[in-house]
Formats: sequence, C-alpha cells, structure tokens
Amino acid sequence: MPRLLLVLPSSTYRAPDFLAAARAVGAEVVIASEEQQTLLTPERFVRIDLCDPQASAEQIAENGIDVDAVIGVDEQGVLFAAHLAALLDLPHNPPRAVATTRDKALTRIVLTDAGLDQPAHRLVHDGEVRRAASSVGYPCVVKAVDLAASRGVIRANDPAEVDAAAERVRAIVGEDAPLLIESYVPGAEVAVEGLLTEGKLEILAIFDKPDPLEGPFFEETIYVTPSRLEPKVQTRITSAVGRACDVIGLREGPVHAEARITDETVVVLEVAARSIGGLCSRTLRFGAGISLEEVIIRHALHIDPGSLRREGGASGVMMIPVPSTGRLEAVDGLDEARSTDGVMGVEITVPIGRQIAAWPEGDRYLGFIFAKADDPARAEAILREAASQLRVRIEPVAAN
Ligand SMILES: Nc1ncnc2c1ncn2[C@@H]1O[C@H](COP(=O)(O)OP(=O)(O)O)[C@@H](O)[C@H]1O
Ligand SMILES: [Mg+2]
Repeated sequence: MPRLLLVLPSSTYRAPDFLAAARAVGAEVVIASEEQQTLLTPERFVRIDLCDPQASAEQIAENGIDVDAVIGVDEQGVLFAAHLAALLDLPHNPPRAVATTRDKALTRIVLTDAGLDQPAHRLVHDGEVRRAASSVGYPCVVKAVDLAASRGVIRANDPAEVDAAAERVRAIVGEDAPLLIESYVPGAEVAVEGLLTEGKLEILAIFDKPDPLEGPFFEETIYVTPSRLEPKVQTRITSAVGRACDVIGLREGPVHAEARITDETVVVLEVAARSIGGLCSRTLRFGAGISLEEVIIRHALHIDPGSLRREGGASGVMMIPVPSTGRLEAVDGLDEARSTDGVMGVEITVPIGRQIAAWPEGDRYLGFIFAKADDPARAEAILREAASQLRVRIEPVAAN
C-alpha cells in the first residue's frame, strides 16, 4: 500500500476531502500537523513546526520516515512539504521556488525581472508609504507580504487613504512588518487551477470571479467554471500562468494562480504551490468523477489519474461573505437556500457562537454555497439566489 504524508495545517478546511481521496486511492496516510492528534498512533502522525519549516523537515527526515509522497495541503504547509520531499528525494518543488510564492514582494520581483506584465511595486520598511504610493501611482494596493485569503489587502485612492490602509495592515501584521505598495490593476479576475509535472503545466480549470473585485477590500465571493472569457483570452491566461510557474521555478504538483485581464494583457497577481483553498475544490470533478484531491494524490504517487477533463456542465461556489465583525449568532434561511433549484449544498463552516472578523482583518468565510447548471451564467444566478435566502446575524463585539 503506498504511503502518503499529508501536511495539514490545523486551520485547514480540507482534511476530510484529502482523507476521503486517499481512501479512494488505497493509500495509507501519515498526517503532519502542528497540533498533537491524540487519536493517531505515531506511525500515522508526526508533529511539525510550520513556523520553521526547514528545520522541522530536517528533523523529521533525520528521525526517518517512510513515505512515497509528500503533499502540502494549504499555504502554510507548502514550504515544509517542499523541504521534506527534497530531503527524502521525492518529486518536489524547489524550496526556493515555494519560498518565492510565499513572499508577495519576491513574487513581483521575479515575475517583473522575467518580463511578465506586473504592477509597479515598492516594498516599504517604515514610514514612507506615501512616497511609495506616489511612485507606483494611484489607485494603489497596500498589502502585507505573507498573508493569504486577501487578509490585509487594501486599495487606496489617495495619500490619506494610503496612510489609513498602511495603519490598518500594520495593526494586523505588526508595526515593523514590511508593506508592499503596488499599482492597482483593473480588469476581470480569474483563478486558475493547474497541475505541474516536471515543469509542464496542465490546466485543470479556469474560474471566473463575476463579482467586481474593486476594493477597498478583496473578500472573494463567487467562482464559476468554465470561464466565459473568449478562448483566445483563456489561452493567454494559460500561457501567462505557465510562464509564471516556470520563472518562479515551480515544477511538481498543484498550482493555484490568480490573474487579471486588462485590455492589453494578462497580469498574474499570484501563484501558489497548492490547490484551491476553502471547500472550493468541491466544484470540480474530473474524468470518471474523481475529486481534485484524488487527482493530486494520484499525481504524487504516480498512479494514473485517467482523464483530467473536467466533468461537463458549469459549476460554481460562493464563499459566503462576512458582513461584519462580531460573534456569529445565527444563519437563518438555510433550508430555503439548500432547496434552491441547482444548489448542490450549503455548508456553514463557522460554528455558531464563534467570533468572526470581516475583511480586511478576517480570513475565514462564513461558509460555502455550491451550484451546478448547464451554463456558467445560470450557475452564477443560482448562487446569488441561494445567498439571498440567507440571513446572517452577527452580534457586534470587537475582534481581537
Ligand atoms: N495590484 C493589484 N491590483 C488589483 N487588485 C489586486 C492587486 N493586488 C491584489 N489585488 C486583489 O486582492 C486580492 C488578494 O491579493 P493577493 O495579493 O492575491 O493576496 P492573497 O494572497 O491574500 O490572495 C487579489 O485576488 C485581487 O483581487
Ligand atoms: Mg491571492
């Protein structure tokens, strides 16, 4: 039986889907995570330190571990996975390449130097945000270099807004953390799901994001695939993402990228060495009906995944927005949302009673709505209709 090490950060949404996929493939799983799992035996669990991925990987490798593949599941796990797979001589992304994807400033530098279209950008270590903003031009985007899920990403249209944005981001990441100031790229945004084999990129899905993401915050809402963009634009997206992976140095396993399409060009905003986050992968089925997680596991274990053609029809997900910061009291209207024609499921992932933060401080969605339809416009309409049934009650209490 093949053995698979799954790096599952404790904040992941995806443990059940990856574990189900491993079962379907007939692979034995060893879980690597930061928190002790008392129910798992030492053969099935290793404790790791994701704050120091290299040292932690070295320690695990020195102690000896017998696995056939290592898969980093979420953003926080990918660098550890790359280091460990490198030490164990398993197919992997070079840790340096993965480290580049984890650093938004380094990503900009590498992509810009390679000649890809990129926003103008400046990394600011202390007070000088206004100067940086005026040199990249307004509107601009202020962001932390190493957060995810659009946490701490704010658009600013003038010097007063840039000061306010910087203060707000620093309240999240700390006074001394560097800030990236970049020019705002207008245009439609897509998310791209791909799989790399020895540096060659295969596109698994392109998702349109039909809600305008114009700021000031960039909480995501709807993803729908297949993309409604013209085939020739999709070809340009594919080639821009392939080029970005190549110059960053990614070679093996899943990639998730975001790009904006302007009149002239495709701007790759980000490439991550992992698959899509949250529960969004549930929108995807391939070939004879296998999940994205199963595709990734098969790929890592060199088991033929069969056809990687996405199942026919359109599919979409809405990340249910967090309307305000506070304690989640109730989500009403779930039955109505679930019985909307075309809705495949509604999952509320924040427990009732839990404190939740709105963007830009937040990074956890209230939950997910899934829809299927004959075409993408219909899938989008179903998601909106289902969302309109939900009534979210949040008791305002300060987040901390
Ligand atoms: N320079 C930019 N121009 C326009 N929109 C941007 C820019 N940078 C970020 N965004 C928006 O913010 C979102 C999150 O930014 P990103 O840098 O990808 O951070 P994260 O890692 O948190 O996803 C993007 O998907 C996009 O919608
Ligand atoms: Mg992003």
